[in-house]
Amino acid sequence: MKFSSLVNRIAGEGVDAWHIHSAALAAAERGEDVIVLSVGDPDFATPEPITEAAVRALRAGDTHYTVIPGREALRIAIARQHVERCGQLVGAENVIVTSGAQNALYSVTQCLLETGDEVLVPEPMYLTYEASIRASGATLVPVPVDADNNFRINLSALQAAITPRTRAIYLATPCNPTGVVMRLEELQTIAKLAQAHDLWVVSDEVYAELTFEQAHVSIATLPGMAERTVTISSLSKSHAMAGWRLGWAVAPVPLIDHIANLLLCMLYGIPGFVQEAALEAIAQRGVVVPAMRAEYRKRRDIAFKLLGDVPGLHCRLAEAGMFMLIDIRDTGMSANDFTWGLFRQTGVSVLDAQAFGPTARGFLRLGFVVGEERLTEACQRIATFVDTVMQARENLAVRVEA
Ligand SMILES: Cc1ncc(COP(=O)(O)O)c(C=O)c1O
Repeated sequence: MKFSSLVNRIAGEGVDAWHIHSAALAAAERGEDVIVLSVGDPDFATPEPITEAAVRALRAGDTHYTVIPGREALRIAIARQHVERCGQLVGAENVIVTSGAQNALYSVTQCLLETGDEVLVPEPMYLTYEASIRASGATLVPVPVDADNNFRINLSALQAAITPRTRAIYLATPCNPTGVVMRLEELQTIAKLAQAHDLWVVSDEVYAELTFEQAHVSIATLPGMAERTVTISSLSKSHAMAGWRLGWAVAPVPLIDHIANLLLCMLYGIPGFVQEAALEAIAQRGVVVPAMRAEYRKRRDIAFKLLGDVPGLHCRLAEAGMFMLIDIRDTGMSANDFTWGLFRQTGVSVLDAQAFGPTARGFLRLGFVVGEERLTEACQRIATFVDTVMQARENLAVRVEA
């Protein structure tokens, strides 16, 4: 039987890197002593009052269809927290509730792009961008960031990649996998380019609440950008709610209306009890988010301290989020061989960061997704593994010399 050409456009290429994650989950299920650091879903449970709100709603019979763009009270709450978080003046009419940031990203993309369009995306990038953009028929143009400059965006490369077909720039700040937070000056340059070439900017800000030392800036707040920017976010990372699938897009009203039409045929509304939990989550933001941020920061510092001085490794200090990139090129191993060797010998699973783009070749992505004790144990196992690798390399060099 025949399929549409869409099936080829959405078949991802970066899936191989995830095999290690599946292997780790299978080993954990068999009761083996594994430490899974290969995913962006932390060990925290969703805070109790949020879960309680969902349970209350379910018990009260909140199990019917809901309005497509999201309940008014939730859209108002999201708009208010957006104003509070980044300062862009928006109302409920600028908000559409989606099934996680991923669904927002996909839906926005289908409403903005079509065959023949080009989209610039700094690379390495979050894995689902490729299929989401290709589904629309548009071409993803990866723009390598500067790995030697701590994975900061290369603005000249971005400018050079603009053609008459360019319709949009997608960016994630803070970035997964690099943990980089874009600076005001970088965003100002991107904003100038967007205005000069009449481009949309889609700004994925799912980690915006989890910045450590750097202040997060939303590009939508820069002069002239509100009408051409879509800001995407969710509760997955900031409130440990990945499995609830609750996210949103903040955008100009005409785009919100188009997305609502798409979501009518894709989702037919987000479950009411999930929306009630989301409302409670936003009400609890002042308590939940600082605690989450402090925990990630503590974990980042532990991982950096334990691995930062290990000969053979070069860790990049993440500015935000739940991941750290580690340069393992001095070990002489490919990141793929390293991740599998590490997993087989120690039970620790991390990802080959090249899955996020060729610029991250030779780097691992380690997630701070387990508690202090297990993270410390994982880092010790990694250090021991690297020590063995470096020792073997030295012995080999000695033998070759002899
Ligand atoms: C940069 C980035 N964008 C979007 C998502 C998807 O988030 P959600 O769970 O809200 O769909 C993730 C999840 O890891 C991410 O890292």
